[in-house]
Amino acid sequence: MKVLIVYYSMYGHIHRMAQAVAEGVKEVAGAEAVLRRVPETLSQEILGKMGALEAQKSMAHIPICTVDELATADAVVFGTPTRFGNMCGQMRQFLDATGGLWQKGALVGKVGSVFASSATQHGGQESTILSFHITLLHQGFVIVGLPYTFQGQMRIDEITGGSPYGASTIAGGQGERLPTENELDSARYQGKHVATIASKLARS
Ligand SMILES: Cc1cc2nc3c(=O)[nH]c(=O)nc-3n(C[C@H](O)[C@H](O)[C@H](O)COP(=O)(O)O)c2cc1C
Repeated sequence: MKVLIVYYSMYGHIHRMAQAVAEGVKEVAGAEAVLRRVPETLSQEILGKMGALEAQKSMAHIPICTVDELATADAVVFGTPTRFGNMCGQMRQFLDATGGLWQKGALVGKVGSVFASSATQHGGQESTILSFHITLLHQGFVIVGLPYTFQGQMRIDEITGGSPYGASTIAGGQGERLPTENELDSARYQGKHVATIASKLARS
């Protein structure tokens, strides 16, 4: 049972969350977690101007996903930073190349789930995840979120990402905030939850 974790991360926040999702997936017997990045669309020059080159180097060992790989997975957990309340362009471009899979119905019935990151607390994590779900529904994914049984999303004693729609983290205006333990727990929970449901579907 293969769970693909497909993400884009410019400064490393989504990358860290993706690793936590993978940890959660691996807690389920028989579940394999496979980490993949979507292709970059920006030039090295632009990435340099955006101060992202060091972070990009630290993620370079994660293989780039092909669209055909999506069809080989039982479940796909997508991770994206927020761009004006939506998924990032790199992810949009990757998904827009899945028309051939759509024609074949190759993703119908697979489990799909989304996690996100934004600079600010109310900068669009929920809208990013919910608008991402539209594409997943067109492809026939069975959408899985982050249920309230992950009680960390009820916390009000500290600022935290996470909602019933999916795990999320707040990166800060300069990317200075790293995912907190509670946010990483939410990502682990989501990974485990996705893998549990996917393995139930695979058995039926
Ligand atoms: C073009 C652009 C648009 C962005 N839009 C938002 C936004 O609408 N709300 C927000 O809180 N952060 C926004 N951000 C900040 C990113 O979401 C933040 O850098 C990202 O979540 C960090 O995750 P990463 O390190 O995995 O790339 C934007 C960043 C860029 C470059």
